[in-house]
Amino acid sequence: MIDGHTRVCGVIGSPVEHTMSPAIHNALAKKLSHNLVYVPFHVKTGEVAEAVKGACALNVLGLNVTVPHKKEVMEALAGIDPLAEKIGAVNTLVRTAEGFKGFNTDMPGLYRAMCSEGIRLEGEEVILLGAGGAARAVAFLCAEKGVSKVYMLNRSVEKVRAIAREVEEKTGKDCICPMALSDYPGLPDKKYLAIQATSVGLFPDTDKAVIEDEAFYRKIHTGYDLIYKPSNTRFMQMVRAQKGEAYHGLKMLLYQGIIAYELWNGISVSEDLAEEVYEILKEKTGIRDEG
Ligand code: ATR
Repeated sequence: MIDGHTRVCGVIGSPVEHTMSPAIHNALAKKLSHNLVYVPFHVKTGEVAEAVKGACALNVLGLNVTVPHKKEVMEALAGIDPLAEKIGAVNTLVRTAEGFKGFNTDMPGLYRAMCSEGIRLEGEEVILLGAGGAARAVAFLCAEKGVSKVYMLNRSVEKVRAIAREVEEKTGKDCICPMALSDYPGLPDKKYLAIQATSVGLFPDTDKAVIEDEAFYRKIHTGYDLIYKPSNTRFMQMVRAQKGEAYHGLKMLLYQGIIAYELWNGISVSEDLAEEVYEILKEKTGIRDEG
């Protein structure tokens, strides 16, 4: 019940109407009997600093930040966590005595989602497709988690080269091997974990994959697509057709939310509760796991 003690959290973005985050946070609050509500706030570009200041004055407990504000918001904060600073994007604001501090829970979220599926990064060789904002963050995650080699493929290879340099500068790890997308036949003949971080295959262009050649998919033992709409992307279908395991990005969305909720409330969410919330999220979104 909403009363005088109810705490408010929310997400700022533009557009924000299609966000699935309220389903995650309100389910967590309900399951944990926390007097907390989570709502969407439509905030226009150029008004992010004002919104953050206002939220702080309104005693808002915590905020998520989504497209297109993940960089702009960094100018408006009392502090930024080192991981978010390296990645160059903030998706979670946590209240401190000085004001809101920025975190990135997208990447730890992906890591926890992978761990929950038994997927390892430490010491592995990984193929990473893309060099946009999402792929950039995954490159940092791979470096942080001790991936031995990341074959990072992108249509414009210059972007990957820039990311490889930046990762080395900021983490001291020289693990990113930049490649042009069309050079995939030159990948050493092994089985890899492949992370799909391009926007190809995203609804409504669901009949496309960034690489369409079966021979590429024979090199993949596990394919992880950051896309969750559709829930069975063409990339995932092509991985499965070559007997690989394939996952969509809904669990990453779940865990980035869970980690934010943990930061706001100073608690840790058990794996059992995470699974319960995942079931609710799937039910609300109509997204399924099976291929
Ligand atoms: P996000 O923030 O989701 O990462 P983004 O920054 O726009 O989105 O990045 C989109 C990624 O998808 C990029 O790696 C882009 O490749 P380029 O850097 O060469 O543009 C990739 N991408 C988008 N459309 C593509 C296509 N038709 N073929 C190959 N790659 C594509």
